[in-house]
Amino acid sequence: MDLSTKYLGLELPHPLMPGASPMVHDIDTVRRLEDAGAAAIVMHSLFEEQIVGEQIFSHRAMDLHAESYPEALSYFPHPDQYVLGPDEYLEQIARIKNTVDVPVLGSLNGTTLGGWLEHARLIEQAGADALELNVYSVAVDPSDDAASLERTTAEMVREVRHTVSIPIVVKLSPFYTSLGHFAARLVDEGARGLIVFNRFYQPDIDVDALEVTPALRLSDSSELPLRLRWLAALSGRTSCSLGASGGVHTAIDAIKAVMCGAHAVQMVSALLKHGPQHLAKVRHGMQAWLEENEYESLQQAQGSMNLARCPDPKAYERANYIHVLQSWWGDGES
Ligand SMILES: Cc1cc2nc3c(=O)[nH]c(=O)nc-3n(C[C@H](O)[C@H](O)[C@H](O)COP(=O)(O)O)c2cc1C
Repeated sequence: MDLSTKYLGLELPHPLMPGASPMVHDIDTVRRLEDAGAAAIVMHSLFEEQIVGEQIFSHRAMDLHAESYPEALSYFPHPDQYVLGPDEYLEQIARIKNTVDVPVLGSLNGTTLGGWLEHARLIEQAGADALELNVYSVAVDPSDDAASLERTTAEMVREVRHTVSIPIVVKLSPFYTSLGHFAARLVDEGARGLIVFNRFYQPDIDVDALEVTPALRLSDSSELPLRLRWLAALSGRTSCSLGASGGVHTAIDAIKAVMCGAHAVQMVSALLKHGPQHLAKVRHGMQAWLEENEYESLQQAQGSMNLARCPDPKAYERANYIHVLQSWWGDGES
C-alpha cells in the first residue's frame, strides 16, 4: 500500500510524525521515533520569550499573572524549566539532523514582530528542513481588534519568509472569526502550510485555595472533530499543505484527518501515553484499513471527505447544527 504524501514540498513515505513536544530533548527518544517510522521529527518550540531574554519574560509573566490570564502561564515554561536555551536549541537541531535520516522541522513560537524572528535563519542554518511558526496568542486585551492581531501574524509570516528559504508552516489556533479568509492571507504572505490546530491549555480554579490551577492534560480522540471540520473546510480551497494536530490517537483518527485533507498527521499525547512505538501501530493500522477497504493508495483517500468532495457538505455547516439539535429533542421525547 502506497502511503506516501507530499507535505511542505517534502516527499514523505506516510503522513505520521510526532508533533512539537519535549520528546526531542532526548536523542534516544528521537532514535526510537525514527525506528518506529516517524516520517519527520518536529522540534519543540523556541519561544520568543526565551530569545528576548529572561528579564522581559519575567516581566511579561508577571503582567499576565496580575491580569489573571494564567492560561498563557500554563503553556510557557518558567525560565528555570527551559531545558534548552536558544544556543542549545540550535545545537540540538544539528545533533538530531546528524542522528536521523528523516526531515527535521524547527519551531518558533511567538506573537510579535521583532528581531527575535531572526532566529528563523539560525534554525535554517542549524539544518532544519522546514519551520513551524506557532502563533499561540491569548487575545484577552479588549483594545486589540481582530484585524490588527491578524495583520501582525501575517507580517510575521512575511518577515520570516524573507529570512529563510525553507518552507514555513503556521500552527494556528481555532479562534479566528473567518479562518478560511485568514488562511488564504497567510498563504499569500508565503506560508507553505497550515497546522490545524494548536491546543490551548485551560486553567481550572481551586475554590478552596482561591487559586487558578493551570493544568496540562493530554488529549483524547474527542478533540479531533474540531480539526476535521476545519481541515475539510480548508482542503481543496487552499494551495498549501495541511497538517492535523490534536486528538489523533488511533489509525482511524489518522484516516479521518487524511480524508478531510491532511497531508501530515501529528501526534503528541498518544505518543507520550504509549511511547514512540505507537506511531508504528497507527501506521500499520492505517495501511490495513486502506487495504481492507480497497484503496489503491493513501492519496486516493486524501481530501475525499473535504467540503468540496464529501457527499453531504451541509453536514459540516449550520444546517447540520439545526438538524442535530432538533433530532436530539425528538429522541429525548420518544
Ligand atoms: C508536553 C507538551 C509540550 C508541547 N510543546 C509544544 C511546543 O513546544 N510547541 C508547539 O507548537 N506545540 C507544543 N505542544 C502541542 C503539541 O505539539 C500538539 O499541538 C498538541 O499536544 C495537540 O496534539 P495531541 O492531541 O496529539 O497531543 C506540546 C504539547 C505537549 C503535551
